[in-house]
Amino acid sequence: MKTIVKGMEGVEEAAEVIRRGGLVAFPTETVYGLGGNALDPEASRKIYAAKGRPSDNPLIVHVSCMEEVDALVSAFPEDARKLMETFWPGPLTIIMPKAECVPLETTGGLNTVAIRCPENKLTLAFIKAAERPIAGPSANTSGKPSPTEAEHVLHDLDGKIDMILDDGPVGIGVESTIIDVTGEVPTLLRPGAITLEELSQTLGKTVEVDPAIVAGGVKEGIHPKAPGMKYRHYAPNACMALVTTAFLKEHDYGVSGEDRKNEDRKVASAIEHLVKKDEAEGKKVGIICCEETRELYAGEYEADLKVIGRRSDPLSMTHELFRILREFDDDQVETIYAESYSDHGVGFALMNRMRKAAGMTELLADV
Ligand code: TXA
Ligand code: MG
Repeated sequence: MKTIVKGMEGVEEAAEVIRRGGLVAFPTETVYGLGGNALDPEASRKIYAAKGRPSDNPLIVHVSCMEEVDALVSAFPEDARKLMETFWPGPLTIIMPKAECVPLETTGGLNTVAIRCPENKLTLAFIKAAERPIAGPSANTSGKPSPTEAEHVLHDLDGKIDMILDDGPVGIGVESTIIDVTGEVPTLLRPGAITLEELSQTLGKTVEVDPAIVAGGVKEGIHPKAPGMKYRHYAPNACMALVTTAFLKEHDYGVSGEDRKNEDRKVASAIEHLVKKDEAEGKKVGIICCEETRELYAGEYEADLKVIGRRSDPLSMTHELFRILREFDDDQVETIYAESYSDHGVGFALMNRMRKAAGMTELLADV
């Protein structure tokens, strides 16, 4: 690759690459995206090819302001307007009925389009300068953890795209919340930093959760409405498992004081047991814990211990998750054991990605 440009200097050049039909990786507050002209079917085909992504998995169309949405949709539901006014620019993608001008190549053959206005100064200027909406999935090789730094993009896509606009590490670290407002009832298709509670509160009504999110992808008879949620995603090369206790699950992690300490100890000793067993077989092992529990992991084993953040602050953990999974890959770790955390608020997004990375494997420490 040609150019990694830091800061505002890259904006004009990036816009020019888009106008010529090329691909530019761009920063957002969630993860890095891989951008092309959303109205050009050829650019969308190039995006799928660069990512190695199945072409029935639609792209998100990025705009620089609400006014740019009109041209892309055939109807503008009131719910969409409320959400945009409240959360844009920000980590919220809204599914709307698409206008003629949005090619089916961009929407994976659907007659709806996913639209989002990211909160990143460089990227907003870049979209404006390109004078076109920017189609952008996450800028990773399909199936790998989404990139949270320009380095990750380079690792996956070097030689396959024209340019990277670098704005350092992202803030949130997991992809945007996706809500579908085209049906009777607004439906959450992917959890992110904008929480289910915030969405319901803004709309003044219940927001349903696509059953596929909870089931963790394709299960018999459950078809996710966001096609992307059906693929094995966010996956490290290692075999990963989450570890928890029945008591913590039963109480939705709303356990504190001595009770919590006991449960934490149970999890830590179950992980220690698993680690020792794997290490005895000569495997390289990784552990993911949090600030609150790190002192419990001081056993006699080699495993690479990574502290993901403070569990009292799920955003501190989403920020680190994908970077940690990539580091384990770089270090050729073969198995990863991770603690489970609460699904509440932003925790829902964190746990959704962690469960997917673990292929839904969750072990109970006390059985
Ligand atoms: O935070 C983000 O959303 C990042 C940054 C770059 O904006 N983008 C991102 O894109 O995560 P991607 O392609 O990795 O994920 C897009 C998701 C996929 O699960 C896809 O199936 C879903 O959005 N999607 C896109 N268009 C859709 C549509 N019309 N109906 C339902 N789901 C849709
Ligand atoms: Mg993605």
